[in-house]
Amino acid sequence: MVQKTTQKTIGILTSGGDAPGMNAAVRAVTRAAIAEGYKVKAIYHGYQGLIDGEIKEFTSESVSGIISRGGTILRSARCLEFMTPEGRAKAYEQYVKAGIDALVCIGGNGTLTGAMDFADEYDIQCIGIPATIDNDVNGTDETIGYDTTLNTIMDCVDKIRDTAASHERIFFVEVMGRDAGWLAQCSAIAAGAEAAIVPESKTDVDQLAAYIEKGIRKSKNSSIVLVSESPKCGAMHYADRVKKEYPQFDVRVSILGHMQRGGSPSARDRILASVLGAFAVKSIKEKQHNVMVGMSNGVPVLVPFAKAIQVQDKSDKTFLELVSKLSN
Ligand code: F6P
Repeated sequence: MVQKTTQKTIGILTSGGDAPGMNAAVRAVTRAAIAEGYKVKAIYHGYQGLIDGEIKEFTSESVSGIISRGGTILRSARCLEFMTPEGRAKAYEQYVKAGIDALVCIGGNGTLTGAMDFADEYDIQCIGIPATIDNDVNGTDETIGYDTTLNTIMDCVDKIRDTAASHERIFFVEVMGRDAGWLAQCSAIAAGAEAAIVPESKTDVDQLAAYIEKGIRKSKNSSIVLVSESPKCGAMHYADRVKKEYPQFDVRVSILGHMQRGGSPSARDRILASVLGAFAVKSIKEKQHNVMVGMSNGVPVLVPFAKAIQVQDKSDKTFLELVSKLSN
């Protein structure tokens, strides 16, 4: 007689925009799960792969050599179908067919919203891990990928400064972040920029130009302004206005684009991903339901999905004030 196995299975997926450190999280979940006696099933292409049944069993070797790699070996997608009850019903069918008992979803707030809806509808055990360069998830000190991207932007701005100084120019450097100004304001501090323009705080172009003018007159021959991406008020918008109203300035724009999402994760992101990945498995073992794992003052914590996805202005005015104070 064949004995029925009681070994439980954890499914794992990455979804939404890729972020450096996602692979380190996949590795941590896989290895911690195997160490705890679980089977691991990898789901490819995020929620779309769950709908399509793109599922494969992982062993410890499946995640060898990935901790240093950017992107995600599981691939990712932004899946519109999963946002519908019909899409989630198809995903549930595949979930059951694959014999998955708990699901770990790695990604930003879109991913966590999907996990929350799926868990609510089908009463399944879902754990979220926050991974997005935007750092816009509530209830965690930081998201996986943010630190690496911050460093990438800082390196780029350091290089741009060589040209800015040599040609005595003002550069508007546009960075990602969706609706959050974390990347712009903190890379401005790290790179010693003259100003940062973020979505959370409106910037009057006249104030900005006056400030730059004052800065140039005082001591500087160049300026760098970090600007958060925005469909209407990105770097182009500010550069055009400053060019028009202050033709004495030599203005350039640099849009960093997707290079910000790539690259080998920083030590900090690898450690964060490893800690949260292992904590996600521990939480499954302890029968936690429908929560995100996060860090609060350096300690792993559980955050209900509903709180994690709350749009909240995590921005801190003191960062912007610091950019201004230190560029005098
Ligand atoms: O959420 C990460 C992010 O890189 C945002 O900063 C940016 O607005 C968006 O994704 C870009 O998405 P896509 O790569 O799908 O164009």
